[in-house]
Amino acid sequence: MCGIVGYLGSHQAAPLLLEGLGRLEHRGYDSAGVAVLGASGIKVAKRAGRVRDLSDELPKRFAGKVGIGHTRWATHGPANDTNAHPHVDSKQRVAVVHNGIIDNAAALRDELGEAGVDLVSDTDTEVLAHLIGRSEADTLEAKVAEALGRIEGTYGVAVLHVDFPDRIVVARNGSPLIIGVGDKEMHVASDLAALVRYTTTVAHLDDGEMATVTATGFTTYRLEATGLSATNRRAARVDIDPSSYDAGDHESFMHKEILEQPAAAERVLRGRLDQRFATGHLGGLNLDARELREIKRIKVLGCGSAYYVGQMGATLIEELARIPADAEAASEFRYRNPIIEPDTLYVAVSQSGETLDTLLAVQEIRRKGGRTIGLVNVVGSAIAREVDGGIYLHAGPEVAVASTKALTNMYLGFAMLALQLGRVRDMSIADGRRLIGALEALPRKIEEIIATDDHLAGVAERLAEAESLFFVGRVRGFPVAREGAQKFKEISYRHAEAYQTSELKHGPLALISPAVPTIAIVPDDELVERNVAALHEIAARKGPLVVVTHDSVPLRGIKAERIVVPRSEVELDPILLTVPLQILAYHAARHLGHDIDKPRNLAKSVTVE
Ligand code: F6R
Repeated sequence: MCGIVGYLGSHQAAPLLLEGLGRLEHRGYDSAGVAVLGASGIKVAKRAGRVRDLSDELPKRFAGKVGIGHTRWATHGPANDTNAHPHVDSKQRVAVVHNGIIDNAAALRDELGEAGVDLVSDTDTEVLAHLIGRSEADTLEAKVAEALGRIEGTYGVAVLHVDFPDRIVVARNGSPLIIGVGDKEMHVASDLAALVRYTTTVAHLDDGEMATVTATGFTTYRLEATGLSATNRRAARVDIDPSSYDAGDHESFMHKEILEQPAAAERVLRGRLDQRFATGHLGGLNLDARELREIKRIKVLGCGSAYYVGQMGATLIEELARIPADAEAASEFRYRNPIIEPDTLYVAVSQSGETLDTLLAVQEIRRKGGRTIGLVNVVGSAIAREVDGGIYLHAGPEVAVASTKALTNMYLGFAMLALQLGRVRDMSIADGRRLIGALEALPRKIEEIIATDDHLAGVAERLAEAESLFFVGRVRGFPVAREGAQKFKEISYRHAEAYQTSELKHGPLALISPAVPTIAIVPDDELVERNVAALHEIAARKGPLVVVTHDSVPLRGIKAERIVVPRSEVELDPILLTVPLQILAYHAARHLGHDIDKPRNLAKSVTVE
């Protein structure tokens, strides 16, 4: 959510900044801007719209070898040219790009207004530019530290100042900030995606850290009430293939990421299944067998799709390990003053590892003495660093806003956790082996589903015509329905509502009509008869039906479009039932001509509350 880039070196900054912004656009895409520091001071170009619009309109004379850029997802003030970043002070001697939210911006705006400062935008960020511009401190570092000291809230910031043309000062508190060490040049970004084409030698700032970046290196400090103290952070190489951030021949990242799922699933399982003892081998949990046995309850926390997969995971753990488990939206958890229990294991699930609601939930739990683990994709991210242990998801970079491969790997992470928890309790070796066999077979089964793409595209195109749809499922199938509806609505903009199949007759059945299709999740499990009975009720109201199911399920004369997924062990059905729903959503959005990777009003990684 919002992206920051910065460059210092021997090349012109603007083209490099624009290229970096293009790679961060999934983080926010309602406006973009760049500022460069050249011989005639700071020049700014910014506008509402996409990075390519900014590129097309960039003034010819926009020279400067130091610069910062930003791609915005509006929080304070609408998306317009004035509210786009960078923001400057009244004399245009300072330029600032900022991710995060300044909570006391209104008070600071009033204070600046009373001091005669003319604030031109509606943003919280602009106050920072003025505070830095008005500071009388001697160094840019001290000016920025003084301004940040006045701020309540979260930030990742990058600052240019005409009096200090050899540097960019950056700081982090709640929003990621990475420094990239290039060949006689330096880069700054809020996400590795913007850096990897130039360097894979990077340093991640911690919350409360600031850095001075020049063309030849960087120095880090801790922001303290008494001033700045050196932290001597070093850069290290990250093992990442830069091409994994490219869409290649795919028309969208979402399509690429759906197809990558079999390989991503193999990666998350690799080396983590212990055949001999029929258990999981999750060293990163930092929990030994005794500690695992002492866990009395599991609480899963995540947001959006991560929450829905968390619900699938909680059901799986309860079934396999027989530990009471449930999932809750991390965005709600913190606000109800939850009781934190010492024998509960709190599991935070997040692709980005930066979702603020999830991070704050983890911090609240830790403050109250709870034990946390993370199921996180992005290595070194805020949540990954905050938790006591965890399972990295190894899905590779996920760029599309709609999450696919990371969610599949979250589910597999839960399956391995359930296995490990189960095997220090009642689960037999035979059951452990049964599950391991099914997990190992899963990547090929996902491949089989992907191979039915043509059929799914046809079904999706018909569904896309409906204004409103129901997704229904029971028990294991209910979070599948929730995730299916979520994926469908976020990229097709159709109204899609998820319900427990069992609850239809208690209200929503009133909405079933020929104009409202239902996508029903009906695996061949212990609930199949009940599920098929509910299909009759929908068919009797002439509701069009798409049934995601196994080929062994008898539909008993019900007229329905059947989407068949391969059989696995019943506990693993949810993930195989989810994959065709991703593909349906993708094709529906494509058919409707939407920007699949950048759905309206959304951004990848929500780093505000
Ligand atoms: C939907 C989607 C979002 C994310 C949610 C949490 O496809 O991607 O609902 O799942 O914003 O994001 P992470 O997993 O990064 O914490």
